[in-house]
Amino acid sequence: MSGFSADWLALREPFDAAARAPQIGVHVAAALTRPGPPAPSLQVIDLGAGTGANLRYSAPLLGCTQEWLLVEHDAALLAVLEQRMRPWLAATRLELSVRSVKLDLAGGLRDLPLPAGALLTASALLDLTSEDWLQQLLGKAAAAGASVWFALTYDGRMQCQPPDPEDAQVRELVNLHQRTDKGFGPALGPLAGQRAASIMAGLGYHVHAALSDWCVGPEQRRLQRLLIEGWCSAACEMAPQRSAALRRWRMRRQAHIDAGESQLQVGHVDLAGTW
Ligand SMILES: C[S@@+](CC[C@H](N)C(=O)[O-])C[C@H]1O[C@@H](n2cnc3c(N)ncnc32)[C@H](O)[C@@H]1O
Repeated sequence: MSGFSADWLALREPFDAAARAPQIGVHVAAALTRPGPPAPSLQVIDLGAGTGANLRYSAPLLGCTQEWLLVEHDAALLAVLEQRMRPWLAATRLELSVRSVKLDLAGGLRDLPLPAGALLTASALLDLTSEDWLQQLLGKAAAAGASVWFALTYDGRMQCQPPDPEDAQVRELVNLHQRTDKGFGPALGPLAGQRAASIMAGLGYHVHAALSDWCVGPEQRRLQRLLIEGWCSAACEMAPQRSAALRRWRMRRQAHIDAGESQLQVGHVDLAGTW
């Protein structure tokens, strides 16, 4: 089990797809599919694959013949992944094979297969991981000559409209919560994108980055309610003595959502490292 339900991943999938920076995918595709004789299938390893959203977004952009390995530790998500991928694969015209494997990535990277020249990818994962783990992952990727493409890494920005005097305090507490251990050691949280970019540059990768913020409009009440509830409980965990004020903040924000006047923006970054 992980903290991510299939329902939550399904709810966020269209927002993720709308937010992702297509130019990063276009760059990765161009770097990996150079003109010349037909290349063998591109091996793609997707870390923390959930129900396969990263594949559904990325495979059409890559376009070439691909062999995906989806890595996930949550058996319930792996079961949904199979159900969701079957009709998607039946409908796609891409030349694509897909396998999944149950693996706890936090337990070490020794068992992670990473063929030479593969593409290593993940979406909405890096902020959960730690400095040590990220260094090991990127070192392993560089040693295999693998390109990397990491989408939707939370970068600490959170904007609510209309503004509330407590928004900044909640953002600070949520960002502190983001730094707590999510299984990989002390999480990088909002620092993950910057750290990944700098480690990649140090390893010799050409690094490309672009923002991929969620913009959640007034009509998206369900996602907004879940975000506000999640932020409030993360903030209460970090500052239990402030719980009453934080719950009042949540009620004010929920009133804005009910009135159809709330907008939320959540900052993310998409990163690619190519050779
Ligand atoms: C925010 S979700 C993103 C899922 C998917 N990539 C997407 O974009 O919809 C993070 C995913 O990482 C997986 N995950 C977290 N810790 C993991 C670990 N130690 N080993 C393998 N997967 C893990 C979770 O189960 C979850 O599916």
